[in-house]
Amino acid sequence: MTGTHRRFTPLQRLLHWLMAAAILAMLFIGVGMVSTVTPKYLALVSLHKPLGIAILVLALIRLALRLSHGAPALPADLPEPMKLAAVLSHWALYALMIGMPLLGWGMLSAASYPVVLAGGIHLPSILPPSDRLHTLLWDAHYFLAFAFFALILLHVAAALFHALVRRDGVFEAMAPTPTRDEAAPAE
Ligand code: HEM
Ligand code: HEM
Repeated sequence: MTGTHRRFTPLQRLLHWLMAAAILAMLFIGVGMVSTVTPKYLALVSLHKPLGIAILVLALIRLALRLSHGAPALPADLPEPMKLAAVLSHWALYALMIGMPLLGWGMLSAASYPVVLAGGIHLPSILPPSDRLHTLLWDAHYFLAFAFFALILLHVAAALFHALVRRDGVFEAMAPTPTRDEAAPAE
């Protein structure tokens, strides 16, 4: 759904920026985890799992908001291939924000490892134990992490292109700051 409003709602913007920081942190925590054999591994992994599950919950909330509230229309003069690239890349980002945590949870379930959150909450296993499945999901989590990073770089490049070159309001639609209308008290 695409609306006629000019900006994403304040809640959509808050979630976007909060999750951008969390996802970037997750990519670096993940790479840190697999590049160390010191006890730091345990500290990193016990941060990686709950933060990843929090991202899954927030992404589902965000998807529901997106489906119910829609998004501001892209500028009418934006070439069709760029509109298509924006739409496809945004849905791919949603798929990765939901798919990556599910793959992480799934691969640990297949290896019979517990997924423990803050306060000792154990998440149920979502897959039966299977070495083959574990390897398959591990590979998918690994390769999709690189795809996620590459897509984020493209996304940031596109955002900067809109903000600095086209100056067409697309960046402002997601900017974390309130606009003058939002900041000014209602008359
Ligand atoms: C947005 C969410 C997530 C992102 C971006 C992410 C990213 C990553 C990255 C970049 C790696 C390192 C891959 C490599 O270079 O080898 C990794 C490894 C790992 N991830 Fe995630 N991850 C996410 C969610 C999760 C969740 C929710 C879990 C579990 C509940 C999880 C469990 C793991 C485990 C266990 C490893 C390490 C595997 C090993 O030590 O061999 N991840 N993740
Ligand atoms: C981990 C990092 C990020 C992820 C996963 C992400 C994800 C997304 C998604 C899924 C959308 C589409 C929103 C929707 O249609 O519901 C979006 C929009 C947007 N993002 Fe990001 N984002 C990230 C980082 C950034 C950064 C760093 C910037 C700026 C430099 C940025 C700027 C924007 C802008 C301007 C839009 C609005 C595009 C439009 O109106 O169509 N994002 N982002």
